[in-house]
Amino acid sequence: MSIIPDVSTPEDDLTGNWLCGGSIDAATLRNTAGAFPSGVTIITASAGSTPVGLTISSFASVSLDPPLLLVCVARTAGSLPAFRAGGPMAVNILANDQAWLAKRFASRHDDRFASVDYTLGPHGVPLLDGVSAWMDCHIARIYDGGDHVILLTRVHSVHRSDSMPLLYHSGAMYDWEQAATENTT
Ligand SMILES: Cc1cc2nc3c(=O)[nH]c(=O)nc-3n(C[C@H](O)[C@H](O)[C@H](O)COP(=O)(O)O)c2cc1C
Repeated sequence: MSIIPDVSTPEDDLTGNWLCGGSIDAATLRNTAGAFPSGVTIITASAGSTPVGLTISSFASVSLDPPLLLVCVARTAGSLPAFRAGGPMAVNILANDQAWLAKRFASRHDDRFASVDYTLGPHGVPLLDGVSAWMDCHIARIYDGGDHVILLTRVHSVHRSDSMPLLYHSGAMYDWEQAATENTT
């Protein structure tokens, strides 16, 4: 007997047809969901021998056993083809002094990795220096997420540093230590 209650509803549909709910304009939803604070990551992969990366805030830890994470990537992202089912990738959680990296990897730049220190992990994926943490993964599943795709990744190895994280809230980035100081005065 399953200990998980059946919570599916007739509206549930994983085929890509979105049956339930009404509509809301994108700007209102973005503004409202932006009330939820997060960190900032750069996800990395490689296209042949060329390193690929983009800034992502839609990151979540999903499961400990098996160890699974997710990130959501816009279907329009030029880097998306480098992230493929079964392929290696990494999630780099940015430190509070790396807002410049978040901007670089969200903008058009001839070479996003120029002057960026990194090492290649065992599967050839860039692991950025100076981050709060990185997680080296393989992409286990790719799900439809409307105008985004949801990459579910399985973690192989991790690194955690003492660096405080970069924060993201309502479209702005904050230094964790400065935000904490402002809260206490
Ligand atoms: C703080 C921040 C968070 C972002 N989060 C996401 C995200 O979760 N998903 C996404 O697809 N794009 C996100 N972006 C936008 C991408 O980084 C941006 O569109 C980037 O240029 C995509 O690169 P590409 O087109 O070379 O793949 C974010 C940008 C910033 C600055």
